[in-house]
Amino acid sequence: MNYADKYEEYRNHFEDDLQKRCAGMVFTPDILTQSMRYSLLSGGKRVRPVLYMAALEAFGKPYVGEETFAFAIECIHTYSLIHDDLPAMDNDDFRRGRPSNHKAFGEANAILAGDALLSLAFDLLLQEAGKSAAHLRAAQALSKAAGAEGMVAGQSLDLLCTGGGGGERELAEIYRDKTGRLIAAPLRMAAILAGNYEREAEAFGLELGALFQITDDLLDATGSSTALGKTVGKDAQEDKLTAVRVYGLQGARRRADASAHTCLDILHTMSGADTGFLAELVRSVRCRDR
Ligand code: IPE
Ligand code: IPE
Ligand code: MG
Ligand code: MG
Ligand code: MG
Repeated sequence: MNYADKYEEYRNHFEDDLQKRCAGMVFTPDILTQSMRYSLLSGGKRVRPVLYMAALEAFGKPYVGEETFAFAIECIHTYSLIHDDLPAMDNDDFRRGRPSNHKAFGEANAILAGDALLSLAFDLLLQEAGKSAAHLRAAQALSKAAGAEGMVAGQSLDLLCTGGGGGERELAEIYRDKTGRLIAAPLRMAAILAGNYEREAEAFGLELGALFQITDDLLDATGSSTALGKTVGKDAQEDKLTAVRVYGLQGARRRADASAHTCLDILHTMSGADTGFLAELVRSVRCRDR
């Protein structure tokens, strides 16, 4: 099967599971359920769940029956986007091709939808953690990646460097924490469940996270808002610390090439793993337009 078809297979499997879980989410007041579903079901590339499923297969473990972690990862990612778009953070009106959560439901409801998605993810992690020692460790990998030692720390530094602050060192830290940790988590969780390649999966994930954020920064400067489903040109407007600010457009493109090479080099060290799909994914992230 070619790369695009395989990506669709993973994504469709995840979407079917997500639809069922969202249909089963019935909270009161209804607006809470609606705002959680609005952001969860509004598309998105689902790259983190796909990485989780692909890594499980690459490391020799079937993903069917292990979907709960994929959903927990996407809940945490979706909450991070809802809060990232708030007026107090990036103040973005569009996300995944439609009005951001706070534009559709108001700021207070958007904050609460994010809170609820984060709490839901932890509820699911606790549920899974009882299954085996490996599940417990995988759950801990995600909880660490999400919070003050991971994504939240990265968002905090991102805000500190908005408006002209920071340089190369801070940029690397922002990439690792705000993006890398939540890209590495699904890979590392899969490695823990499969019982192999944990160190390599984490290193690969952090590098892929850097590549993913360099290309996100490039697309903010040069991409199309229709393809991306979000506003472009905001990073320059807010003077965000991005690869484009630090290295310039050409420099950022060279960084992306180097990062893609490093990702592929790390995959080569995973002898015995079936890394073909992950290698194609690296190439597609380097060339992505959305
Ligand atoms: C956006 O993530 C936030 C970043 C870390 C750059 P994605 O580009 O994965 O967003 P969706 O899930 O496809 O909408
Ligand atoms: C956000 O980075 C990363 C998160 C942790 C949500 P950006 O602020 O660049 O993401 P976009 O461009 O709004 O998707
Ligand atoms: Mg941001
Ligand atoms: Mg943003
Ligand atoms: Mg961005």
